[in-house]
Amino acid sequence: MARSIVITSGKGGVGKTTLVANLGRSLADLGQRVVLMDTDLGLNNLDVLMNIENKVVFDIIDVIENRCRTAQALIEDKTVKGLFVLPSCHSYDASKINGQNIKAVVSGLARSFDYILLDCPAGIEVGFHRAVSAAGEAIVVTTPHISSIRDADKVIALLKSYQIDPISIIVNRARGDLILNSEMVDYKDIGRILKTPPLGVVPEDDAINLLSNLGLTVDSKSDGFSAIALLAKNLHCGTTEMFDVTKKYKGILGGLKRNLRKII
Ligand SMILES: Nc1ncnc2c1ncn2[C@@H]1O[C@H](COP(=O)(O)OP(=O)(O)O)[C@@H](O)[C@H]1O
Ligand SMILES: [Mg+2]
Repeated sequence: MARSIVITSGKGGVGKTTLVANLGRSLADLGQRVVLMDTDLGLNNLDVLMNIENKVVFDIIDVIENRCRTAQALIEDKTVKGLFVLPSCHSYDASKINGQNIKAVVSGLARSFDYILLDCPAGIEVGFHRAVSAAGEAIVVTTPHISSIRDADKVIALLKSYQIDPISIIVNRARGDLILNSEMVDYKDIGRILKTPPLGVVPEDDAINLLSNLGLTVDSKSDGFSAIALLAKNLHCGTTEMFDVTKKYKGILGGLKRNLRKII
């Protein structure tokens, strides 16, 4: 039976869609069968990031309205075996779709997959409710910035009113140089503030930004990739190993890099 996990945040632009795509790939690399679902109906961000826009024949609405079987709508990633996307719809009156509809699709998929990752829309309105009511577990994405941490706090409180367990956090866009200079809080502090266990920490990485804008998942030599691979392992195996975002800014050379970044 699949684990259905909603990736949510409250605040938009913190990296949910990017993490859904790359975490999905890392879980598939671990031999898992994974489906990614965009519950932000009508916006298609995940389809664009996964580069499947021109391959879509049927989408999630066709599945919900019984115009096709779920398996007919799924698109397998061309490079990663076992990684599938259920495409979102292009334009649709999303108010017609409720949490039960999404839940039914998730239940249908649960028998043939190990993980169903639900990319949640920003905000805490109808779209949030729709995504969360179909999930068994939740991961809240936050950046190390006050406004994002505050939103994550509200979302965690809301999630507790649903039957969601466990709830964990991912700290995205962490900067090792700023953390060492005490100009940014680290994941341990954020975990303490939010009273929620961190599942992983992902550095600010230009490769992530560039590749996601090109519709590609992150390349396997980058820090972003290593960090997300580690967090996939934590999710799958129950380990708690965190990527050290400060490592490359330590020592003599690291100190130089840190100061150079300050000057630039
Ligand atoms: N760790 C990171 N390092 C650099 N850029 C990132 C990182 N995570 C996300 N981004 C960028 O931030 C932007 C917003 O990410 P996105 O996944 O669309 O956020 P959300 O789905 O939460 O709205 C994108 O341009 C993405 O490439
Ligand atoms: Mg998004």
